[in-house]
Amino acid sequence: MRYRQLGRTGLQVSELSYGAARGATEDPAQFIATVHAAIEHGINFIDTATGYDGGDSERVLGEALQGHDEVFVETKYCPYESYAVGAKYVGTPEALLASAEESLRRLRRDHLDVFLGHGIRTLESFERFMNDGCYDAMVKLRDQGKVRFLGISELSEGDGTHQVLQRAVPTGTFDVVMLTLNFMLQTAADSVLPLCRQHNVGTVVMMPLNQASRQSGLVSLPAALELVRRHIAAGNLPDQPPYHDPDLLAFLEPYPVPEAALRFVLAHDVSTCCAGTRSPERLQANLRAIDPPYLDSVRLQRLRELFGGIQRQAF
Ligand SMILES: NC(=O)c1ccc[n+]([C@@H]2O[C@H](COP(=O)([O-])OP(=O)(O)OC[C@H]3O[C@@H](n4cnc5c(N)ncnc54)[C@H](OP(=O)(O)O)[C@@H]3O)[C@@H](O)[C@H]2O)c1
Repeated sequence: MRYRQLGRTGLQVSELSYGAARGATEDPAQFIATVHAAIEHGINFIDTATGYDGGDSERVLGEALQGHDEVFVETKYCPYESYAVGAKYVGTPEALLASAEESLRRLRRDHLDVFLGHGIRTLESFERFMNDGCYDAMVKLRDQGKVRFLGISELSEGDGTHQVLQRAVPTGTFDVVMLTLNFMLQTAADSVLPLCRQHNVGTVVMMPLNQASRQSGLVSLPAALELVRRHIAAGNLPDQPPYHDPDLLAFLEPYPVPEAALRFVLAHDVSTCCAGTRSPERLQANLRAIDPPYLDSVRLQRLRELFGGIQRQAF
């Protein structure tokens, strides 16, 4: 495993990190086995959130991390009624503080390494979060030693061009951002990563496989071609050659699509690529991507020509 610096936090984090969003309720034993496999392979940064699996993600992660104080944990407070794009903003400083206390209890820790405002999706709600006491409550947690570093994550379904992070990073108020970057949604490479470099903000990439389902996403060749079809249907890609070609992605060989997708992210100047999987076997497969220089310039260039113009998600 290789380690990269998480911006101004100075933390050295594994370049592949683990996204614990799914699996804790469905199969806690398998979830714990996957977390332990990740740690055995040198993964030292795990992302979770209060809302994942109704709190089970944090709770079972807390169990899995007993005796593993060396692993950095990032968790989040979501100031909306739900993760849906149009969900009502309901953030309050009191709820944020209570959420952080719950996270500490479930994770069985006395501090959170990174604490994020979760899924901030419009400039209007970003301004609200910064000015309604929520951000001040985060600072209070840091002052009390309950949180080490502060951050913010976006919601790419609602903000495909990363307006919120482009506003947030230059404020200097966040140490870490969690952003979407994958070979079907590349815009952050030009709009967010240079800003983060400039302000020495750590970058945790989420959805490297495009938050895939079995049907559509960067998890297999058929699912990736289905994702291309959905982008054509949404008007995000032209309805013309070469996009209907079944061999469209053949140039990625010999890498399987998921490995190529992780290699794409790791080839960028990001702190860590956070991939979610509920299976130790798929985790093993993902570890194959840790292989500099990750992806050659010819494949990177082709991916940019094909998909670099996409500005919206199409699930
Ligand atoms: N707004 C936010 O803050 C936000 C939004 C989204 C995600 N996140 C965080 O970022 C993390 C990563 O994003 P994500 O989990 O949504 O998306 P992702 O990592 O792009 O995709 C995860 C999906 O890919 C599958 N997968 C993983 N490795 C695979 C492989 N080698 N072959 C085939 N399928 C594979 C997983 O299925 P299996 O589980 O069946 O293996 C899972 O369905 C999350 O866990 C979460 O912690 C944050």
